[in-house]
Amino acid sequence: MAVDVRFLGQSCFELTAGGTTVLTDPFLTGNPLAAASADEVNPDVILLTHGHADHLGDTVDIAKRTGATVVAIVELANEIAEAGVENVKDPNFGGTVEFDWGWVKLVPAWHTAVSPSGTAHMPAGLLIHIGDRLVYHLGDTCLFSDMKLIARRGDKVDLALVPIGGHYTMDRFDAVTACELINPSEVIPCHYNTFPPIEADAEAFKSDVQNAGYSQVVVLEPGGTHKVK
Ligand code: NI
Ligand code: MN
Repeated sequence: MAVDVRFLGQSCFELTAGGTTVLTDPFLTGNPLAAASADEVNPDVILLTHGHADHLGDTVDIAKRTGATVVAIVELANEIAEAGVENVKDPNFGGTVEFDWGWVKLVPAWHTAVSPSGTAHMPAGLLIHIGDRLVYHLGDTCLFSDMKLIARRGDKVDLALVPIGGHYTMDRFDAVTACELINPSEVIPCHYNTFPPIEADAEAFKSDVQNAGYSQVVVLEPGGTHKVK
């Protein structure tokens, strides 16, 4: 089964397969590059890497309107449940949450995080199995060697969603090495150009990765789509 990917800006991706829509890190309100508004998305599930404002975003409003299930690391999940979201899953690192459409597993990311409401928690990456494809959303992270371990514990990673903006995460140069470690079939860069400190040249990243022979890179403008075959 193919997975349809739509990039909505920053770290927000919509993954659709077999009638299920999964939304990651829905930072739409206040995002100058957002390709949709919070009332235009209709996810079945929202997956969060962490609770910084540029990731938590409109999660609570979208979940309350749509009834979407929210998956987040336990401390952040508790905050979201207390905010009135009905369906919340609260794994920790290594935990897998199973759905009828697939599963999501929380894996480490090297970053810090306190939510806008003050909840301290550990940021995560997401391994997402949907449409019989494996997607690795790295979240906000610097380069670390266990990416290799994370990517080689199961099926080959079909698609990696990789931050390249630098300053708050790894930059486009470290991101090339991340592609070497993860060895995904395809890569979509994210978390760049939204704000001045994270401006990055995605086409240069694409050339560097493809010239090294690591992966195919698909650069999407916000609103752009790609099909993982
Ligand atoms: Ni962050
Ligand atoms: Mn961020």
